[in-house]
Order: sequence, then structure tokens, then C-alpha cells
Amino acid sequence: MDERTVPARRTAPGAALLLAAVVLVTACTDGRGAVVGTPGAAGVRDPYFPRLGNGGYDVTHYDLSVATDARAGRISGTAVITARATQDLSAFNLDLAGLDVRSATVEGRPAAVNRAGWELTLRPAAEVADRLRAGRTFRTVVRYAGPPRTVTDADGSEEGWLRTAYGAVALGEPAGSMTWFPGNHHPGDKASYDIRVTVPEGRSAVSNGELASRRTAGGSTTYHWRAREPMASYLATVAVGRFTVRRTVTGTGLAVVTAVDPGSAGASARVLARIPEMVAWGEEKFGPYPFSSAGAIVGRPDDAGYALETQNRPFLPGPPDPVLLVHELAHQWFGNSVTPASWRDMWLNEGFATYAEWLWSEDHSGPTVQESFDEAYADEANWAFPPSRPPGPADLSGPPVYGRGAMVVHRIRRAMHDDPAFFRLVRGWLEEYRHGNASTADFTAYAEEASGRDLTEIWDTWLDGRSRPARG
Ligand code: TRP
Ligand code: ZN
Repeated sequence: MDERTVPARRTAPGAALLLAAVVLVTACTDGRGAVVGTPGAAGVRDPYFPRLGNGGYDVTHYDLSVATDARAGRISGTAVITARATQDLSAFNLDLAGLDVRSATVEGRPAAVNRAGWELTLRPAAEVADRLRAGRTFRTVVRYAGPPRTVTDADGSEEGWLRTAYGAVALGEPAGSMTWFPGNHHPGDKASYDIRVTVPEGRSAVSNGELASRRTAGGSTTYHWRAREPMASYLATVAVGRFTVRRTVTGTGLAVVTAVDPGSAGASARVLARIPEMVAWGEEKFGPYPFSSAGAIVGRPDDAGYALETQNRPFLPGPPDPVLLVHELAHQWFGNSVTPASWRDMWLNEGFATYAEWLWSEDHSGPTVQESFDEAYADEANWAFPPSRPPGPADLSGPPVYGRGAMVVHRIRRAMHDDPAFFRLVRGWLEEYRHGNASTADFTAYAEEASGRDLTEIWDTWLDGRSRPARG
């Protein structure tokens, strides 16, 4: 999503300026009138989306309660956000696109609210200023309501709160989650989540993590999902519909929850039944599955033009091809557990998830990995730009990020001349950065250290180079 797609300012520019001046002057004081703390930054300077995310704090936990009607055209929500200040804060921002903010408190006291585009600025009451000093944990509660937006991504795809024939699904990559809850919406700030969704009785609401409870009263059902392991906000989801929900466990006892729109149920059953086998295959290649449950959400083909690796439970718009399902499950290791430090590092997600497709195909009587590599190499579309440097936000999901990203992985494997050592490197990488964030520089440094080789040649040509290198 591009800054230009953001809704118009809700405050007149003059009023916003005045408020900004008031925020500056009255910010937080130490009781003797001196200002302590400064406002947190309005963005974390992501190279592709500089205003995504916010500075000055780290969210540790989101407790979201969202209610919607059968048509899912309106929501009302309460976000309880627990965060740790990383500087003395006089004010801080959350990202929220559209929706009306009904009230906001910080540490239990009403906070002043200002909105400009997707930046929601909260100025805590002076009495609680001390609780937002660097290192302290503070709690923010935002109540909000309205018709959630859908946003058009830089590449033209729709994300955010997508209404569907049966209800709705929220898809957040790279910037859609701000359409249904306020937060620090950059992948660098991961947190655990409790997500409670209230829907009319007879509908189901499926989200990340595990179902902690389900209660029906007065014609509404509240589903409470809990995602304990850290999650980047673009991987949070809610799907509302009349799903067929199935629970099973893998051979190692991992819970698997699938939710399928009845229109897709028949055609999905066989492939979804393979999730335990796919997870076991992934564990053999990549090491322990990083989350406490797995599964999938299957909607209808016209819900979205793409699948997304929403945490624990990838979303697939209609009956999936097995290889697509493997791709989304592979993201649970590559992207969801080890998450890009910035959107520039997207190839670490898509290159490895594509490589997982190649590995799976080879193991299941499809093309060999080398054949997949050769096919990707021959495809002009993969040479449009280097995977480490997509020209702009519209290119983040372009073919080089996937196909050429996977080629980088394969070139490392070939340079090592030792498959067991290569797979140890991949597992070591996932273990080292498990539940964290990693950049391309982290990866290249790790790969050189773990392989004991100078891989400069691979980085200069396959990863960063402009033109197609000789195959060698
Ligand atoms: N990450 C998704 C996948 O590969 C694809 C995708 C969905 C995507 N939305 C996006 C990629 C937005 C980049 C930007 O399965
Ligand atoms: Zn992918």
C-alpha cells in the first residue's frame, strides 16, 4: 500500500497543526513543568514503506476483541496493547487506516487522540508520564468502530478487510492489518496475540493460534483464539463465515485446525488431509515446526487473487494445489518464525518458500530441484531485478523475489558440494533466528560462517547482480 491510498485526513490541516503544537508544548512534564520524553517516531524507515510501524516502543502483546455482523460490513473493536517503551515517551503513534476511534486510554487515563492518514497519535495524560519512561511496560486501550477498509496494494492486489460472499477475511501483507486493528504494523515488532471475535450465532470465526474458548449468549458467539508465539502483524487474520471446521493431530501431537467454506469443501478435503504429512516432511528438511498448531483456512476463488501464509493457518482462496499448500506451510518456518527485518528482505520469505516447492516436487515424483532451477533460470521474468533490491513496493512480490530468490538458495547448496551440510545450514539459520527477525545481511553472514566459505561470488551475481550470470 502506498501513502497515497491512505484515507483523507480526518482533521483539518490547521487543527492538526494546532494540536501538534499543543502536543509539543504540553507533552509530558516531570511535575516541575519540564518536558520529559519525546514523541516516538511515526515510522521505522522501512526502505519500501517508511511510515509503517512506529518508534519508541515495542509491543509485547495484543489483546483484540472484534465484533461483526453477518455481512461483516462493520466492526467494532477494542485493542488492548501492552508495550515496552524504548525511550522516554511524551507521545507515540499507532497505525490505523479508516475506522472511527471512540476512545483511547494509556495506563487507564484518557489520552489525547490525533489522526493524520494512517497515523494515530496518542498523547498520554500528564499524570501517567512516568510510566512511559524507557524500559517500562505500559498499556493502551483503543476502542474503535466503523466499516473497515480494503486497501489496494502497490501491485494492485487487494488486502485488508476483504468482504466475501460468505463473510469476510482479513489479509495483511504488507500493510493490510491496520484496517482492522491499531498497532505497530511493521514486521520488525512481533508480539503474542489474543484475538476474540464475536459473530452472529451460526457463523464461525477463525483466527491464528489455538481456540481457547467459544461462548454463545444472546444470539452471538465469541471465539477466542490465542497465538502464543511471536507473530508479525501482517500474519494476523480473522475469517468469518459458515466454515466446516475440522481438528486433528499430527503423528507428533501437533494440533491441526482446518476451516473450509462449504463451497470448497469437496475439492479441498484430499489435499487438506495431507497437512500432517506436509508438516512432517517440512520438519525433516527444516527442523522443528515452530508453532503450537497448524492448519489452513480455505475460502472461495474470488475472495482474493492470492494465498497468504497467515500464522498457524495459511489462507487459501479456494481448493489449493498441494504445491501451493506446501509453499504456505513452508512460510511458517521462512517468514513467520524467521521474519524479515524490513520489506527489503522479502526474498528470504519467498525464495525459501519457492525452494521448498522445488524440494517437495522432487520428493513427490515431480521435476528435480535442478530441473526447477533450470526452468526458473530460463524464465525472463526472473531477471527483471535482483531479489535483494526490488525497485519499488509494487515489485515486492515480483517473480525475481520468488524464482531468483530460490536460485540463490540452490547456488549456495551447489557451492557447498555437501547436501547434509547444506541442510544443516538451513536448519541452523532457522534455529538461530527462531521467532525473531533477520535481514539479508544476517543471512549472508550466517551462510558464510556456517558453510565456512566465502560466498561473495554468489551474492554479487545471483543475489545482487543486475544481469543473468552464466550458469557455471
Ligand atoms: N506471501 C504470499 C505468498 O507467497 C503472496 C502475497 C500475498 C504477497 N500478498 C502479498 C506478497 C503482498 C507480497 C505482497 O504466498
Ligand atoms: Zn510465498
